[in-house]
Amino acid sequence: MTAHLKKAELHCHIEGAAPPALALAQARKYNVDVRGIIEDGAYVWADFSHFLTCYDAVAELFRTEEDYALLAEAYLTELAQAGTIYSEIIVSPDHGNTIGIGSDAYIRGLAAGIEAAKAKTGIEGRMIITIIRHMGPEAAEKTALYAARREHPLVTGFNLAGEERMHKVADFARAFDIARDCGLGITIHAGEMVGAFSVRDALDHVRPSRISHGVRAIEDADLVKRIAAEGVVLETCPGSNVSLQVFPDFAAHPLRALYEAGCRVTLNSDDPPFFHTSLKQEYEIASQVMGFSDDEINGMTRTAIEAAFVDEPTRKRLLSAI
Ligand code: ADE
Ligand code: ZN
Repeated sequence: MTAHLKKAELHCHIEGAAPPALALAQARKYNVDVRGIIEDGAYVWADFSHFLTCYDAVAELFRTEEDYALLAEAYLTELAQAGTIYSEIIVSPDHGNTIGIGSDAYIRGLAAGIEAAKAKTGIEGRMIITIIRHMGPEAAEKTALYAARREHPLVTGFNLAGEERMHKVADFARAFDIARDCGLGITIHAGEMVGAFSVRDALDHVRPSRISHGVRAIEDADLVKRIAAEGVVLETCPGSNVSLQVFPDFAAHPLRALYEAGCRVTLNSDDPPFFHTSLKQEYEIASQVMGFSDDEINGMTRTAIEAAFVDEPTRKRLLSAI
């Protein structure tokens, strides 16, 4: 049982954290027909591309600053109730533009939700702005310039998500240069839907301190050694990987092998209700299915805080809470 353990999360896409019941309430509010997207209280998707389409459809149910505040507050409050002291949510200002409220209102709403959850529960939250591969390098550079304005102090990181089978990391090098130059922490989705080379590609071209997923590095022993030697932190999301059939089941998941090889790993939920999981459940799986001890799991939580995109006094305070 991991209920008593403190938890931390580095990788959760905020629209992907919307509980189906909340998405349904939003659909009613805006009179949107979500049949085919939500059925029997669960999101409906068949493969990764379909998942991304479903994700975008759910994102479009959140249309105002207040909607986004509600979403962030609901998610972080649920995390805090499970013993979580820190959470980085992945946010996409491009969604703010898609729905017409604009990036500033989108970020302001999410920040209000983070602050409300902190006031209620003490949970510390930050935002990672993501660029989206399938929107291409030009859109990514615009988003990077937006992120570089550092309009909100809770925006502390920069990520690349979306369809991993489109473009190379090198195509986004300029966007990452912009983000790094303004002091944002960097992580990149790689080694999830495509193989080890995508992780190598990310490390060679951008040198992020963290990799989102990275689990398919296991296909290349030299790469695993490099990740361990360089101390790159992997934001692993086992429930997501099994749900998307990156690995057939938890027994086949490489978390244990990466850990034994000396890689710095963390536990994360990715898009929890889409993948029928939660951060709490990821901790349970690590403990009950993968056989990690409480000490080992606490080590992963410590790794998450060590790798968090936060100021040093906050990091120190969080580390002392574990
Ligand atoms: N966007 C939302 N969830 C994602 C994932 N697991 N991989 C890539 N892009 C995403
Ligand atoms: Zn992700």
